[in-house]
Amino acid sequence: MTKILSVLNHKGGTAKTTTTLNVGAALSILGYRVLLVDLDPQANLSQSLGVEEIMETISMVFERKLEILPIRVINKQIHLVPSSLDLSAVEPGLYSNINSYFLLKSLIAKVKDSYDWILIDCPPSLGIFSQNALIASDGVLITVQAQFLALKGLDTVYNLIETIKDRLNPDLGIQGLVVTQTNHTKLSKEILLALRGNYQDKVYKTTIRQNVAIAEASINRQDIFSYSPESNGAIDYMNLAKEILL
Ligand SMILES: Nc1ncnc2c1ncn2[C@@H]1O[C@H](COP(=O)(O)OP(=O)(O)O)[C@@H](O)[C@H]1O
Ligand SMILES: [Mg+2]
Repeated sequence: MTKILSVLNHKGGTAKTTTTLNVGAALSILGYRVLLVDLDPQANLSQSLGVEEIMETISMVFERKLEILPIRVINKQIHLVPSSLDLSAVEPGLYSNINSYFLLKSLIAKVKDSYDWILIDCPPSLGIFSQNALIASDGVLITVQAQFLALKGLDTVYNLIETIKDRLNPDLGIQGLVVTQTNHTKLSKEILLALRGNYQDKVYKTTIRQNVAIAEASINRQDIFSYSPESNGAIDYMNLAKEILL
């Protein structure tokens, strides 16, 4: 059965896009058919896959100009629904129409049988696009950056997930929290301990170490496994994918 995950955090820079890309790539290497959905107007995921300046993007879905998801074939195992900056212009008009909250769910329903995993890269906000993602998903993957104030606002993220689960999507669950960009500092270790204290076994054993190859890979429009298969980044993201599969 297809599993649909939202990759979410209200903050930018927590490695949502990096995690969507590289967990998706790891799952594809493990033999699964993967659809990545870029729901961020910044379109970083699309850019990281070399998809830019194209006509059909997720924005057209929210503008009601498309009734099917605009899917691009990246390779045999990975497909992408790209985004574009136009998406931010559409947003204000959507809140007044209740149907706008279910657009992604209804369009994913038409294609989901073609995939084993669908990963949705959310924007750094809890607005209507992230809500579309949560309504369409079975689980949420929360990325937490090992940085000062990392835990601030996580209760708000949890509350939104609870509200959507209670009212709109009873199937929604927390898939897990992944700590990203860890290093050897005391702060990094303290954040991991605090998260394990608060969220117990929802926190993945695998953490994603700070690794320059990860940043270089996306600049080079590649996932970490194509760019540097021996890097710590490749090792960590493969371990994370395997833990998600458990
Ligand atoms: N483990 C890591 N090591 C080094 N750089 C990272 C790592 N994870 C993410 N980055 C870099 O941090 C920046 C923010 O990551 P990104 O995935 O774009 O975050 P978000 O989508 O949450 O805003 C990017 O430049 C990315 O390349
Ligand atoms: Mg992003």
